[in-house]
Amino acid sequence: MSYRLGTVLIPEAAIQQRVRELAQVISQDYADRDLLLICVLKGAAIFWADLCRALSIPCQSDFVAMESYGDATAPQQEPHFTKAATVALTGRDILVVEDIIDTGHTIVHLRQLLQAQGPRSLRLCTLLDKAERRAVRVPIEYCGFLIPNAFVVGYGLDYAQQYRHLRDIAVLEAA
Ligand code: IMP
Ligand code: MG
Repeated sequence: MSYRLGTVLIPEAAIQQRVRELAQVISQDYADRDLLLICVLKGAAIFWADLCRALSIPCQSDFVAMESYGDATAPQQEPHFTKAATVALTGRDILVVEDIIDTGHTIVHLRQLLQAQGPRSLRLCTLLDKAERRAVRVPIEYCGFLIPNAFVVGYGLDYAQQYRHLRDIAVLEAA
């Protein structure tokens, strides 16, 4: 099966506007805190880059990468980081920056791994929420857009490592 870019779901201007709104709320909420952004590679990289530069408060950033569990045929194994944070997380106010919450399995595992390191607080900021597909309960403190059950690419999100550079978020369609 081959795929092609379909309709634009969220144009660049709407993304940029929403990122500014999120950054404003986060800047207020963390005004007297010591904010540490944890960017989940690779999909959240572009969202993180815009979000952190729109904040009006100081912050630190670190990056993590997780083993993907999208393939149901993969053998069961303990979820783990393929890249762990290098900043000490104990006692920190952590805001996880994600591209999309789909079934929710990835973020649930990530939360457990981060929580085990004893942060002061741990919240989630996701650009996209594909809530229809949720399989496990996920608290989301900051959400950019609720989207329908479609496979989307652009603004960091990929299909086979393609399309991450697109400024809009578009639906991927069967060709
Ligand atoms: P979850 O564990 O099912 O919530 O999956 C989350 C991960 O699946 C995301 O971080 C993405 O890497 C990937 N993913 C889920 N839906 C999409 C999509 O529509 N486009 C691109 N990647 C997606
Ligand atoms: Mg991701």
